Amino acid sequence: MATSLRAPGRVNLMGEHTDYSGGLVLPVAIQLGITLTFEPAERIELDAPGGERYIAAVEQELSDLGRPDVGIAGAVEADLPQGAGLGSSGAFEVVVALALCEAAGFQLEPLELALACQRAERRAVGVPSGILDQAASLLGRAGSALLLDCGTLEHRWVPLPDDVAILVLDSGEKHAHEGSGYADRRRELEAGDPRRVRHVETENGRVRETVDALERGDVAALGPLFAASHASLRDDYEVSTPTLNALVASALAAGAFAARMTGGGFGGSIVALAEPDRAADVLARTRVQGWIVCAADGAIRCRTDSTRDPA
Ligand code: GLA
Repeated sequence: MATSLRAPGRVNLMGEHTDYSGGLVLPVAIQLGITLTFEPAERIELDAPGGERYIAAVEQELSDLGRPDVGIAGAVEADLPQGAGLGSSGAFEVVVALALCEAAGFQLEPLELALACQRAERRAVGVPSGILDQAASLLGRAGSALLLDCGTLEHRWVPLPDDVAILVLDSGEKHAHEGSGYADRRRELEAGDPRRVRHVETENGRVRETVDALERGDVAALGPLFAASHASLRDDYEVSTPTLNALVASALAAGAFAARMTGGGFGGSIVALAEPDRAADVLARTRVQGWIVCAADGAIRCRTDSTRDPA
């Protein structure tokens, strides 16, 4: 019998380029994701155009952890766009890893699985990314953001206030880590470049302040925090682009009360916050492809649901 598993994409509310130095991140899993429908098989045969090297890398990482060599055959379906900076490669790794584990009756803790998928990303495309995308895709919770300390992997969920809608607006500039400055930035940070270090230190502080504001229900505090994060990513970390900067300005002009680039940068999307009854209008006025997203359950919870008695 075929099984379907789903892994969501993510949007990071605060804490950009902090994960690979052991800092804080605050993503939500979103309702857009990747579904894999599969059956156990002799070999791995998945209809997933462009996914081959990720599949091979995930398989190798899991095999190194002791997964029995059981194949799967199946196909993926996605409503999560690729290249929009919404964590599509992380979601793909997660859904493939969960399916391979399920077919083989092999179990890992969610964060062990996230770490294996993070290593798979590096193995597949050579990008030294952090654990943000895979952790968010696995551990997200409906209605909450995930506060994750990427150094200790301690985490908790922060409920989102009802009076905030989250918008993701796609700049249309295709974001890909390969060939972008992502690895350069990581090297510069590790070499102690003062502006890169300042971004990370101030951004970690902004994650804490964002959590405080959300917990106080102080939505008005979020606009200045988002603005400061965007400025720091643009000026100190230099991962924004003129198109992303213009889109942040246009979202604010269209009525959003907070906006910043999100994800790795060098293209991709921005995240904006608006009052729920204005969100559709903000989206229409910016005239780019976008989504009003909700904080959704991550793949762990989706799996629990799909294996529950279908009654
Ligand atoms: C990409 C990477 C993540 C993280 C972000 C920036 O999404 O995959 O690990 O570094 O960029 O916050």
